[in-house]
Amino acid sequence: MKKTIRDYNLENKRVIIRVDFNIPIQDGQIMDDTRIKASLPTILYAMEKGAKVILLSHLGRVKTEEDLEQYNLQPVAKRLSELLDQEVIFVNQTRGNLVEDAVSKLENGQVLLLQNTRYEDLNGKKESKNDPELGAYWASLGDIFINDAFGTSHRAHASNVGIASHLPNGIGFLIEKELNAFEPILNNPEHPFTVILGGAKVSDKIEVIENLVKRADQILIGGGMAYTFLKASGLSIGKSLCDEEHIDYCKNVMRQYPDQIVLPIDSVTAKEISTDTEIQERFISDFKEDEIGLDIGYNTIKLFSQYIKNSKTILWNGPLGMFELDPFQKGTEAICKLLKDSNGITVVGGGDTASAVENLGYAEFMTHISTGGGASLELLEGKQLSGIEIIHEK
Ligand code: 3PG
Repeated sequence: MKKTIRDYNLENKRVIIRVDFNIPIQDGQIMDDTRIKASLPTILYAMEKGAKVILLSHLGRVKTEEDLEQYNLQPVAKRLSELLDQEVIFVNQTRGNLVEDAVSKLENGQVLLLQNTRYEDLNGKKESKNDPELGAYWASLGDIFINDAFGTSHRAHASNVGIASHLPNGIGFLIEKELNAFEPILNNPEHPFTVILGGAKVSDKIEVIENLVKRADQILIGGGMAYTFLKASGLSIGKSLCDEEHIDYCKNVMRQYPDQIVLPIDSVTAKEISTDTEIQERFISDFKEDEIGLDIGYNTIKLFSQYIKNSKTILWNGPLGMFELDPFQKGTEAICKLLKDSNGITVVGGGDTASAVENLGYAEFMTHISTGGGASLELLEGKQLSGIEIIHEK
Protein backbone atom coordinates (compact mmCIF):
# COMPACT_ATOMS: atom_id res chain seq x y z
CA MET A 1 0.00 0.00 0.00
CA LYS A 2 1.25 3.43 -0.91
CA LYS A 3 1.81 6.15 1.68
CA THR A 4 -0.87 8.80 1.51
CA ILE A 5 -1.21 12.41 2.54
CA ARG A 6 -2.75 11.14 5.81
CA ASP A 7 0.58 9.60 6.80
CA TYR A 8 2.26 12.98 7.30
CA ASN A 9 2.01 15.80 9.80
CA LEU A 10 1.51 18.73 7.45
CA GLU A 11 1.43 21.57 9.96
CA ASN A 12 3.81 24.37 9.07
CA LYS A 13 5.28 22.23 6.25
CA ARG A 14 5.74 23.32 2.64
CA VAL A 15 3.67 20.67 0.89
CA ILE A 16 4.09 20.37 -2.88
CA ILE A 17 0.99 18.83 -4.46
CA ARG A 18 1.20 17.72 -8.10
CA VAL A 19 -2.29 18.10 -9.51
CA ASP A 20 -3.61 17.54 -13.03
CA PHE A 21 -5.10 20.83 -14.18
CA ASN A 22 -4.67 19.86 -17.83
CA ILE A 23 -8.16 21.02 -18.80
CA PRO A 24 -9.74 22.54 -21.91
CA ILE A 25 -9.39 26.34 -21.93
CA GLN A 26 -10.54 28.45 -24.91
CA ASP A 27 -9.67 32.15 -25.10
CA GLY A 28 -9.02 32.19 -21.37
CA GLN A 29 -12.37 30.50 -20.59
CA ILE A 30 -12.38 27.16 -18.77
CA MET A 31 -14.59 24.72 -20.70
CA ASP A 32 -14.61 21.91 -18.12
CA ASP A 33 -13.45 22.22 -14.51
CA THR A 34 -14.01 18.57 -13.50
CA ARG A 35 -10.31 18.01 -12.85
CA ILE A 36 -10.02 21.13 -10.68
CA LYS A 37 -12.98 19.98 -8.60
CA ALA A 38 -11.55 16.47 -8.35
CA SER A 39 -8.38 17.85 -6.74
CA LEU A 40 -10.22 19.84 -4.06
CA PRO A 41 -10.35 17.16 -1.31
CA THR A 42 -6.55 16.92 -1.18
CA ILE A 43 -5.96 20.67 -1.36
CA LEU A 44 -8.59 21.40 1.31
CA TYR A 45 -7.17 18.70 3.59
CA ALA A 46 -3.66 20.16 3.31
CA MET A 47 -4.99 23.68 4.01
CA GLU A 48 -6.98 22.51 7.03
CA LYS A 49 -3.97 20.70 8.44
CA GLY A 50 -1.94 23.93 8.35
CA ALA A 51 0.28 23.23 5.33
CA LYS A 52 1.79 25.88 3.08
CA VAL A 53 0.39 24.46 -0.15
CA ILE A 54 2.41 24.67 -3.39
CA LEU A 55 0.56 23.38 -6.46
CA LEU A 56 2.21 22.24 -9.67
CA SER A 57 0.49 21.20 -12.90
CA HIS A 58 1.09 20.97 -16.61
CA LEU A 59 -1.38 22.30 -19.20
CA GLY A 60 -1.33 21.20 -22.83
CA ARG A 61 1.82 20.42 -24.78
CA VAL A 62 4.11 23.43 -24.97
CA LYS A 63 6.25 23.27 -28.10
CA THR A 64 6.69 26.88 -29.25
CA GLU A 65 6.68 30.40 -27.78
CA GLU A 66 3.18 30.84 -29.25
CA ASP A 67 1.87 28.04 -27.03
CA LEU A 68 2.74 29.98 -23.88
CA GLU A 69 -0.32 32.20 -23.96
CA GLN A 70 -2.77 29.40 -24.77
CA TYR A 71 -1.40 27.19 -22.01
CA ASN A 72 -1.20 29.79 -19.26
CA LEU A 73 -2.50 28.47 -15.91
CA GLN A 74 -3.74 31.88 -14.69
CA PRO A 75 -7.46 31.15 -15.41
CA VAL A 76 -7.13 27.99 -13.33
CA ALA A 77 -5.79 29.97 -10.36
CA LYS A 78 -8.85 32.22 -10.63
CA ARG A 79 -11.30 29.31 -10.79
CA LEU A 80 -9.56 27.54 -7.93
CA SER A 81 -9.77 30.71 -5.80
CA GLU A 82 -13.55 30.73 -6.38
CA LEU A 83 -13.90 27.05 -5.51
CA LEU A 84 -11.77 27.36 -2.36
CA ASP A 85 -13.31 30.70 -1.46
CA GLN A 86 -9.79 31.92 -0.75
CA GLU A 87 -7.17 33.66 -2.86
CA VAL A 88 -4.81 31.34 -4.71
CA ILE A 89 -1.49 33.11 -5.16
CA PHE A 90 -0.32 32.69 -8.76
CA VAL A 91 3.29 33.07 -9.85
CA ASN A 92 3.77 33.43 -13.58
CA GLN A 93 7.11 31.59 -13.43
CA THR A 94 8.25 28.02 -12.99
CA ARG A 95 11.51 28.87 -11.21
CA GLY A 96 13.62 31.80 -9.98
CA ASN A 97 13.42 34.62 -7.44
CA LEU A 98 9.70 35.31 -7.81
CA VAL A 99 8.90 31.67 -7.12
CA GLU A 100 11.29 31.42 -4.17
CA ASP A 101 10.02 34.69 -2.65
CA ALA A 102 6.40 33.59 -2.95
CA VAL A 103 7.20 30.25 -1.31
CA SER A 104 9.11 31.90 1.54
CA LYS A 105 6.19 34.26 2.24
CA LEU A 106 3.55 31.51 2.30
CA GLU A 107 1.63 31.21 5.54
CA ASN A 108 0.02 28.08 6.92
CA GLY A 109 -3.21 27.34 5.03
CA GLN A 110 -2.30 29.50 2.02
CA VAL A 111 -2.19 28.13 -1.52
CA LEU A 112 0.29 28.98 -4.27
CA LEU A 113 0.08 27.84 -7.89
CA LEU A 114 3.14 28.05 -10.14
CA GLN A 115 2.94 28.57 -13.89
CA ASN A 116 2.51 25.55 -16.20
CA THR A 117 5.33 23.07 -15.56
CA ARG A 118 5.57 22.43 -19.32
CA TYR A 119 6.81 25.99 -19.89
CA GLU A 120 10.06 24.21 -19.00
CA ASP A 121 9.66 22.09 -22.15
CA LEU A 122 10.70 25.07 -24.27
CA ASN A 123 14.06 24.69 -22.63
CA GLY A 124 15.05 21.21 -23.92
CA LYS A 125 11.88 19.39 -22.73
CA LYS A 126 13.15 19.59 -19.17
CA GLU A 127 9.76 18.81 -17.58
CA SER A 128 8.67 16.01 -19.92
CA LYS A 129 12.10 14.36 -19.96
CA ASN A 130 12.39 14.46 -16.17
CA ASP A 131 15.51 16.62 -16.14
CA PRO A 132 17.25 15.75 -12.83
CA GLU A 133 18.29 19.34 -12.06
CA LEU A 134 14.70 20.60 -12.55
CA GLY A 135 13.20 17.89 -10.32
CA ALA A 136 15.78 18.66 -7.61
CA TYR A 137 15.07 22.41 -7.89
CA TRP A 138 11.30 21.99 -7.49
CA ALA A 139 11.86 19.55 -4.61
CA SER A 140 13.99 22.22 -2.87
CA LEU A 141 10.85 24.38 -2.60
CA GLY A 142 9.05 21.88 -0.35
CA ASP A 143 9.29 19.52 2.62
CA ILE A 144 6.76 16.88 1.54
CA PHE A 145 5.56 15.84 -1.92
CA ILE A 146 2.04 14.58 -2.62
CA ASN A 147 1.16 13.22 -6.04
CA ASP A 148 -2.52 13.66 -6.80
CA ALA A 149 -2.27 14.01 -10.58
CA PHE A 150 -3.80 10.69 -11.59
CA GLY A 151 -4.20 11.80 -15.21
CA THR A 152 -0.44 12.38 -15.47
CA SER A 153 0.70 9.38 -13.48
CA HIS A 154 1.65 7.39 -16.61
CA ARG A 155 4.22 10.09 -17.43
CA ALA A 156 7.66 10.24 -15.79
CA HIS A 157 7.99 14.02 -15.53
CA ALA A 158 10.27 16.20 -13.40
CA SER A 159 7.15 17.46 -11.58
CA ASN A 160 6.09 14.01 -10.40
CA VAL A 161 8.81 11.34 -10.56
CA GLY A 162 11.61 13.94 -10.34
CA ILE A 163 10.35 15.67 -7.19
CA ALA A 164 9.22 12.41 -5.56
CA SER A 165 12.74 11.01 -5.71
CA HIS A 166 13.99 13.81 -3.38
CA LEU A 167 11.24 14.20 -0.77
CA PRO A 168 9.14 12.20 1.70
CA ASN A 169 6.07 11.49 -0.40
CA GLY A 170 2.60 10.03 -0.69
CA ILE A 171 -0.48 9.96 -2.89
CA GLY A 172 -3.45 12.29 -2.49
CA PHE A 173 -7.13 11.43 -2.20
CA LEU A 174 -7.82 11.52 -5.95
CA ILE A 175 -5.16 8.95 -6.82
CA GLU A 176 -6.28 6.87 -3.83
CA LYS A 177 -9.87 6.93 -5.12
CA GLU A 178 -8.81 5.98 -8.65
CA LEU A 179 -6.69 3.06 -7.40
CA ASN A 180 -9.49 1.89 -5.10
CA ALA A 181 -11.82 1.81 -8.12
CA PHE A 182 -9.49 0.05 -10.56
CA GLU A 183 -7.47 -2.33 -8.40
CA PRO A 184 -10.32 -4.64 -7.30
CA ILE A 185 -11.54 -4.83 -10.90
CA LEU A 186 -8.13 -5.71 -12.21
CA ASN A 187 -7.15 -8.10 -9.43
CA ASN A 188 -10.30 -9.70 -8.16
CA PRO A 189 -13.46 -8.67 -10.06
CA GLU A 190 -16.85 -9.87 -8.98
CA HIS A 191 -18.29 -12.08 -11.76
CA PRO A 192 -20.01 -11.89 -14.17
CA PHE A 193 -17.48 -9.29 -15.27
CA THR A 194 -18.25 -7.48 -18.55
CA VAL A 195 -15.84 -5.19 -20.37
CA ILE A 196 -17.21 -2.78 -22.99
CA LEU A 197 -14.62 -1.52 -25.44
CA GLY A 198 -15.09 1.11 -28.12
CA GLY A 199 -13.11 3.84 -29.81
CA ALA A 200 -11.65 4.08 -33.26
CA LYS A 201 -8.57 1.91 -33.42
CA VAL A 202 -7.93 -1.73 -32.55
CA SER A 203 -4.25 -0.88 -32.09
CA ASP A 204 -5.08 1.41 -29.13
CA LYS A 205 -6.87 -1.41 -27.31
CA ILE A 206 -4.77 -4.52 -28.06
CA GLU A 207 -2.95 -4.47 -24.73
CA VAL A 208 -6.22 -3.89 -22.86
CA ILE A 209 -7.79 -6.87 -24.64
CA GLU A 210 -4.73 -9.01 -23.88
CA ASN A 211 -4.83 -8.07 -20.21
CA LEU A 212 -8.59 -8.42 -19.71
CA VAL A 213 -9.72 -11.22 -22.00
CA LYS A 214 -8.61 -13.88 -19.50
CA ARG A 215 -10.31 -12.17 -16.55
CA ALA A 216 -13.56 -10.94 -18.08
CA ASP A 217 -16.56 -13.13 -18.82
CA GLN A 218 -17.02 -11.19 -22.03
CA ILE A 219 -15.70 -8.21 -23.94
CA LEU A 220 -18.41 -6.37 -25.88
CA ILE A 221 -16.83 -4.54 -28.80
CA GLY A 222 -18.30 -1.44 -30.46
CA GLY A 223 -17.02 1.81 -31.93
CA GLY A 224 -14.85 2.10 -35.03
CA MET A 225 -12.67 -0.79 -33.84
CA ALA A 226 -15.57 -3.25 -34.16
CA TYR A 227 -15.44 -3.07 -37.97
CA THR A 228 -11.91 -4.50 -38.10
CA PHE A 229 -13.16 -7.43 -36.01
CA LEU A 230 -16.18 -7.83 -38.29
CA LYS A 231 -13.99 -7.82 -41.38
CA ALA A 232 -11.72 -10.37 -39.72
CA SER A 233 -14.83 -12.57 -39.28
CA GLY A 234 -15.24 -12.51 -43.06
CA LEU A 235 -18.01 -9.88 -43.27
CA SER A 236 -18.23 -6.93 -45.67
CA ILE A 237 -18.03 -3.62 -43.87
CA GLY A 238 -18.40 -1.21 -46.81
CA LYS A 239 -16.36 1.93 -46.25
CA SER A 240 -16.19 1.56 -42.47
CA LEU A 241 -12.96 2.14 -40.59
CA CYS A 242 -10.63 -0.81 -40.92
CA ASP A 243 -7.25 -1.32 -39.30
CA GLU A 244 -5.88 -3.71 -42.00
CA GLU A 245 -2.66 -4.32 -40.08
CA HIS A 246 -4.57 -5.81 -37.17
CA ILE A 247 -6.95 -8.14 -38.99
CA ASP A 248 -4.79 -11.14 -38.15
CA TYR A 249 -4.67 -10.10 -34.52
CA CYS A 250 -8.48 -9.94 -34.43
CA LYS A 251 -8.76 -13.38 -36.10
CA ASN A 252 -6.41 -14.91 -33.52
CA VAL A 253 -8.07 -13.43 -30.48
CA MET A 254 -11.54 -14.49 -31.72
CA ARG A 255 -10.22 -18.01 -32.42
CA GLN A 256 -8.63 -18.23 -28.98
CA TYR A 257 -11.52 -16.70 -27.01
CA PRO A 258 -14.66 -17.38 -29.07
CA ASP A 259 -17.01 -17.06 -26.09
CA GLN A 260 -15.55 -13.87 -24.69
CA ILE A 261 -15.44 -11.60 -27.73
CA VAL A 262 -18.92 -10.29 -28.59
CA LEU A 263 -19.34 -8.25 -31.79
CA PRO A 264 -22.16 -6.01 -33.06
CA ILE A 265 -24.85 -7.67 -35.17
CA ASP A 266 -26.19 -4.46 -36.67
CA SER A 267 -25.05 -0.96 -37.28
CA VAL A 268 -26.17 2.61 -37.97
CA THR A 269 -24.72 3.47 -41.35
CA ALA A 270 -24.44 6.54 -43.58
CA LYS A 271 -22.80 7.44 -46.85
CA GLU A 272 -21.00 10.38 -45.32
CA ILE A 273 -19.96 11.54 -41.88
CA SER A 274 -22.11 14.58 -41.11
CA THR A 275 -25.01 15.57 -38.87
CA ASP A 276 -27.56 15.96 -41.64
CA THR A 277 -26.68 12.82 -43.57
CA GLU A 278 -29.30 10.13 -44.24
CA ILE A 279 -28.90 7.17 -41.88
CA GLN A 280 -29.88 3.49 -42.11
CA GLU A 281 -29.97 0.64 -39.60
CA ARG A 282 -28.52 -2.50 -41.16
CA PHE A 283 -27.70 -6.01 -40.08
CA ILE A 284 -23.97 -6.40 -40.59
CA SER A 285 -24.64 -9.03 -43.28
CA ASP A 286 -26.58 -6.40 -45.30
CA PHE A 287 -23.87 -3.75 -45.38
CA LYS A 288 -23.74 -1.77 -48.67
CA GLU A 289 -20.40 -1.12 -50.35
CA ASP A 290 -20.67 2.67 -50.14
CA GLU A 291 -21.77 2.84 -46.49
CA ILE A 292 -19.84 3.63 -43.34
CA GLY A 293 -20.77 2.08 -39.99
CA LEU A 294 -20.93 4.86 -37.41
CA ASP A 295 -22.79 3.44 -34.42
CA ILE A 296 -24.11 0.17 -33.03
CA GLY A 297 -27.71 -0.62 -33.99
CA TYR A 298 -30.87 -1.48 -32.05
CA ASN A 299 -30.31 -5.26 -32.09
CA THR A 300 -26.74 -4.90 -30.87
CA ILE A 301 -27.92 -2.73 -28.00
CA LYS A 302 -30.40 -5.51 -27.11
CA LEU A 303 -27.68 -8.14 -27.35
CA PHE A 304 -25.23 -6.14 -25.23
CA SER A 305 -27.95 -5.40 -22.67
CA GLN A 306 -28.35 -9.15 -21.94
CA TYR A 307 -24.74 -9.28 -20.77
CA ILE A 308 -24.75 -5.93 -18.99
CA LYS A 309 -27.95 -6.63 -17.02
CA ASN A 310 -26.54 -9.75 -15.43
CA SER A 311 -23.10 -8.38 -14.65
CA LYS A 312 -21.77 -7.63 -11.20
CA THR A 313 -18.81 -5.66 -12.57
CA ILE A 314 -18.80 -3.52 -15.71
CA LEU A 315 -15.81 -1.70 -17.07
CA TRP A 316 -16.28 0.65 -20.02
CA ASN A 317 -13.61 2.24 -22.18
CA GLY A 318 -14.32 3.92 -25.51
CA PRO A 319 -17.49 5.33 -27.12
CA LEU A 320 -19.63 2.87 -29.11
CA GLY A 321 -20.13 5.19 -32.07
CA MET A 322 -19.23 8.62 -33.38
CA PHE A 323 -21.09 10.19 -30.46
CA GLU A 324 -19.85 13.73 -31.23
CA LEU A 325 -22.45 13.79 -34.04
CA ASP A 326 -26.09 13.53 -32.93
CA PRO A 327 -27.22 10.80 -35.37
CA PHE A 328 -24.52 8.44 -34.08
CA GLN A 329 -24.96 8.98 -30.37
CA LYS A 330 -27.66 6.40 -29.60
CA GLY A 331 -25.36 3.44 -28.95
CA THR A 332 -23.19 5.33 -26.47
CA GLU A 333 -26.26 6.79 -24.78
CA ALA A 334 -27.91 3.34 -24.58
CA ILE A 335 -24.81 2.01 -22.80
CA CYS A 336 -24.99 4.95 -20.37
CA LYS A 337 -28.63 4.03 -19.61
CA LEU A 338 -27.82 0.34 -19.16
CA LEU A 339 -25.03 1.18 -16.75
CA LYS A 340 -27.32 3.57 -14.88
CA ASP A 341 -29.87 0.76 -14.41
CA SER A 342 -27.27 -1.84 -13.51
CA ASN A 343 -26.93 -3.12 -9.95
CA GLY A 344 -23.27 -3.92 -10.54
CA ILE A 345 -20.13 -1.83 -10.06
CA THR A 346 -19.72 0.48 -13.05
CA VAL A 347 -16.29 1.92 -13.81
CA VAL A 348 -15.72 4.24 -16.75
CA GLY A 349 -12.30 5.01 -18.24
CA GLY A 350 -11.25 8.65 -18.65
CA GLY A 351 -10.81 10.73 -21.81
CA ASP A 352 -13.52 10.41 -24.49
CA THR A 353 -15.64 7.93 -22.55
CA ALA A 354 -15.73 10.18 -19.49
CA SER A 355 -16.66 13.19 -21.67
CA ALA A 356 -19.44 11.19 -23.34
CA VAL A 357 -20.93 10.10 -20.00
CA GLU A 358 -20.65 13.62 -18.59
CA ASN A 359 -22.05 15.38 -21.68
CA LEU A 360 -24.97 12.96 -21.91
CA GLY A 361 -25.80 13.62 -18.24
CA TYR A 362 -25.09 10.19 -16.73
CA ALA A 363 -22.02 10.94 -14.60
CA GLU A 364 -23.81 10.82 -11.24
CA PHE A 365 -25.05 7.27 -11.89
CA MET A 366 -21.65 5.63 -12.32
CA THR A 367 -19.69 4.04 -9.49
CA HIS A 368 -16.52 5.70 -10.76
CA ILE A 369 -15.48 7.84 -13.72
CA SER A 370 -11.75 8.12 -14.11
CA THR A 371 -10.09 11.53 -14.46
CA GLY A 372 -7.27 10.01 -16.52
CA GLY A 373 -7.57 8.92 -20.16
CA GLY A 374 -4.06 7.67 -20.94
CA ALA A 375 -3.40 6.76 -17.31
CA SER A 376 -6.52 4.61 -16.93
CA LEU A 377 -5.78 2.91 -20.26
CA GLU A 378 -2.28 1.97 -19.06
CA LEU A 379 -3.74 0.63 -15.80
CA LEU A 380 -6.15 -1.51 -17.82
CA GLU A 381 -3.21 -2.73 -19.88
CA GLY A 382 -1.72 -4.01 -16.63
CA LYS A 383 1.15 -1.52 -16.63
CA GLN A 384 2.72 0.19 -13.63
CA LEU A 385 2.27 3.96 -13.64
CA SER A 386 5.64 5.74 -13.12
CA GLY A 387 4.17 8.60 -11.08
CA ILE A 388 2.65 6.13 -8.61
CA GLU A 389 5.41 3.52 -8.64
CA ILE A 390 7.91 6.09 -7.28
CA ILE A 391 5.74 6.80 -4.22
CA HIS A 392 6.90 5.14 -0.97
CA GLU A 393 5.16 2.05 0.36
CA LYS A 394 3.74 2.26 3.89
C1 3PG B 1 -4.14 13.86 -19.86
O1 3PG B 1 -4.93 14.79 -20.06
O2 3PG B 1 -4.30 12.71 -20.33
C2 3PG B 1 -2.99 14.09 -18.92
O3 3PG B 1 -3.06 15.35 -18.33
C3 3PG B 1 -1.67 13.87 -19.61
O4 3PG B 1 -1.49 14.79 -20.64
P1 3PG B 1 -0.47 14.48 -21.82
O5 3PG B 1 -1.07 13.37 -22.65
O6 3PG B 1 -0.32 15.77 -22.57
O7 3PG B 1 0.81 14.01 -21.19
